[in-house]
Amino acid sequence: MRLARYLAHAGVASRRAAEGLVREGRVTVDGKVVTDPARDVDDRSRVAFDAEPVAPEPTVVYMVNKPRGVVSTVRDTHGRPTVTSLVPRGRRLYPVGRLDADTTGLILVTNDGDLANLLTHPRYEVPKTYRARVRPAPVAGGALRRLRAGVELDDGPTAPAQVRQLQPGVLDVTIREGRNRQVRRMCEAVGYRVISLERVGFGPLRLGRLAAADHRRLSPTEVAELRAAAKRETGPPAGGDHGPPAG
Ligand code: URA
Repeated sequence: MRLARYLAHAGVASRRAAEGLVREGRVTVDGKVVTDPARDVDDRSRVAFDAEPVAPEPTVVYMVNKPRGVVSTVRDTHGRPTVTSLVPRGRRLYPVGRLDADTTGLILVTNDGDLANLLTHPRYEVPKTYRARVRPAPVAGGALRRLRAGVELDDGPTAPAQVRQLQPGVLDVTIREGRNRQVRRMCEAVGYRVISLERVGFGPLRLGRLAAADHRRLSPTEVAELRAAAKRETGPPAGGDHGPPAG
């Protein structure tokens, strides 16, 4: 396995960040500084980062029901609580993608850099479903059609979305993109204000009855289904390495 990947598996940093750490000369293999992130290592290699031995740790993926006011970064400069503080400690975990501080619902937290990469890279984006409560209610048929077809935002048109009005003013919106405040901006673009926004689905996963601020560990089957869903959306990757996991 490549050294940068090994470090990502060990929870030291995302693969991209690990490449930087290796180039900076902070990593040794069998006692010697190595600056090539592509250097091959295996289970018998003695790898150290800043002189501390590191070893790949078992991967874990948690589903968290993020409450309002909790941020989906590893640390917050304003001291707000983070989603990583809602899962058991002891591992270097990071969120998969982002939800706005005022958005609630399903977010994944993991130490599996490969999986985070797969789920956040634009090429592999899995569908995500948001429940938006909007005003005024109900949403008119013309607005629903515009949301479905794609609306013009400051940063370009949105791709077609699946949109269902469950009750007057309650929409389930499924998108594959992950632009900043996208669902809120889409609703505003067609004349509706979002009162609350909750992510209820991520690929094959559903938030279900998980209580606010609660978490549960995904089963190996669920993790396999997530991976399969990402690959199914856009086909297999063209090359080996791609961007870093968000978070
Ligand atoms: N769309 C938004 O507007 N906010 C989120 O947090 C996620 C998607």
